Amino acid sequence: MYDIITFIMATVFFVIIGIHPPWQSKKIQDSNKEVQDIPGPVAVPVLGTAWLFLLGVFQVEKIPDFYIRMREKYGSIVKEEALFNVPVISVYERTDIEKVLRSTGKWPIRPPTEAIAKYRSEHPERYSSTGLVNEQGEKWNFLRTTLTPALTSPKTIKDFLPELQEIADDWCHLIKQKRNSHGLIDNLEDLASRLGLEAICALVLGRRMGFLIEERKSQTAENLARAVHENFIACRDTYFGLPLWKLFPTTAYKKLCHSEETIYTIVEELVRCADDSIKDSAVIQSVLRADIDDREKRSAIVDFLAAGIHTLKNSLLLFLCQIGRSPECQMKILQDETKSYLKACQMETFRLSSTIHVLARITEHDLVLSGYHVPAGTVVLCQTAHACQNEANFKDATSFLPERWLDDRKSETSSTAAFLVNPFGYGKRICPGKRFIEQALPIIIEKMVREFVIDAKDPLETRFEFLVAPKAPVSMSFQDRL
Ligand code: HEM
Repeated sequence: MYDIITFIMATVFFVIIGIHPPWQSKKIQDSNKEVQDIPGPVAVPVLGTAWLFLLGVFQVEKIPDFYIRMREKYGSIVKEEALFNVPVISVYERTDIEKVLRSTGKWPIRPPTEAIAKYRSEHPERYSSTGLVNEQGEKWNFLRTTLTPALTSPKTIKDFLPELQEIADDWCHLIKQKRNSHGLIDNLEDLASRLGLEAICALVLGRRMGFLIEERKSQTAENLARAVHENFIACRDTYFGLPLWKLFPTTAYKKLCHSEETIYTIVEELVRCADDSIKDSAVIQSVLRADIDDREKRSAIVDFLAAGIHTLKNSLLLFLCQIGRSPECQMKILQDETKSYLKACQMETFRLSSTIHVLARITEHDLVLSGYHVPAGTVVLCQTAHACQNEANFKDATSFLPERWLDDRKSETSSTAAFLVNPFGYGKRICPGKRFIEQALPIIIEKMVREFVIDAKDPLETRFEFLVAPKAPVSMSFQDRL
């Protein structure tokens, strides 16, 4: 009896002085904390935390650095507030990231790019929905199951590999033509953009466009590359800036409309003059034959091109920046006939410098994240890039060590990486271009390493363009490997 009274009095004492008794389960204690208790930068009414960017305290071009600062300052879970003080929660711990990604239901919800959704809904003559990337629920599921099976099929990619080899040859030839007498190319991003265009158009439209042929410089290639780039920047500026574009067409919104129009017009023209050569292309054939509104078909092609060109370009440049700083790494790629080392380099590039730095979800269930109760319907950003560079998850986390993906270290690395190194996303909403890119990148890189000694002297600097991109101009030297 005395024991019980002592226990109750001690509990009351601890509660009064604000310390929870050691025997009280941490989980119960923490789950009493709500979203409004999550630490984060000061939010002002209506504008939320957007003032940090509006007043130039942080720049949108450096968003990944902003999230590093937030982690340092506030800890493993951080709350920002969007317009009208809607909370946006960032989680940095592996356990929280896993919880969020695992908790999605049969139709995972990724926050849409609202400005694109607005533009498309205002153009019903072109779009009957906001498209695969931005739709949700049953509509998304219908588009996904109708439009992507050919793109995700192993057979499509296997059949495409010979063409990809030719593209890699042409790209190396272009580098030889464009390098100066010291082997230097000082705007590699332009050439990589042409490679992204050529490879993705060949995959999606089923025809070689000639974007890598110097003598056949194409205005279409330039316009498409510029429009896709402009589209990403405009998405960034409408997404992170004040959403005044909801009230009137701001400069960023006008740029977004212009780029969407340009991409659409080019795709329309390419589809219109598609000749017999596309008959062999599984991707475009399956889209064109799908039992679906014609507007959806065009919009799917627009989305595939927009989603593929820049991501491939950036991933290739980031990969080159990593191996270009290590002649030993290039030698090991050449010596390993099993290609395991090359694949390990690819995984390590994705771990250290993925073009996608966060995965966003809207939660579908109530969750307890870092001890806070986060209700269903909350926007959560899984800070995967940050977690990949956390020593608690990977030893020597900031070093490029492909060996961690090999031999006896492989299984430990892979199990830690399961929810962290996911450059293509996770679950049912995972990128449908994943299989293609995972095959394409090693083919291109291997070809380059066989042809050249690659030297990326400058330290890797990045810029946030809605994707993480190497900061232009990217300069690298390519000497013939004798
Ligand atoms: C290195 C290249 C690429 C990277 C890093 C990448 C990354 C991603 C990521 C992270 C997502 C979001 C997944 C999620 O929320 O779980 C995504 C979605 C998507 N990607 Fe990719 N992607 C790449 C290339 C491609 C290519 C080549 C295509 C098409 C040809 C493509 C088409 C799409 C589409 C249509 C979606 C939306 C899928 C949906 O919501 O159902 N991507 N991508």
